[in-house]
Amino acid sequence: MKICVYPGSFDPVTNGHLDIIHRASKICDKLIVAVLVNHSKTPVFSLEERVDLLKCALKDRPDIEVDSFSGLLVNYMKKRNATAIIKGLRAISDYEYELQMALTNKTQNPEIETLFMMASVNYSFLSSSIVRELAKNGGDIDGLVPDCIKDAVLRKFRT
Ligand code: PNS
Repeated sequence: MKICVYPGSFDPVTNGHLDIIHRASKICDKLIVAVLVNHSKTPVFSLEERVDLLKCALKDRPDIEVDSFSGLLVNYMKKRNATAIIKGLRAISDYEYELQMALTNKTQNPEIETLFMMASVNYSFLSSSIVRELAKNGGDIDGLVPDCIKDAVLRKFRT
């Protein structure tokens, strides 16, 4: 049984994340989407909100687990008996940071592999920060986030 973990901040989940999740689920026996509790940057959405938005986006996929973790990803991987980290790559600019993380994680546990999936062209510009920027300034987030979370995202920025 190959357990894979797709980690991230998901502040909030976007259609780019969802695309990777659905594609990754085809190559893993079990996929866990793991939301990082503490991050150097303070998230806009609370942990509970980020988990709830993901669960809503994945309500038709009971086979995919949504969980959260704090501390080092490698420790969480061990706790969950997981062997591979799934990461999405958009542009070349993602590569440097992702390489650094993947190599760091290797030093901590050489048994764990990081698998990179290329973001679909349609979503190669998309990020949670782009969604937040649009939502904050009255932009259109249709098609950028799952339909069922759109209102919750817009509501967050309404004053
Ligand atoms: O969605 P993000 O913010 O790009 O996700 C980054 C994440 C959560 C995958 C990364 O920050 C992470 O793995 N954090 C856990 C802490 C850790 O293990 N750090 C060592 C690797 S550099």
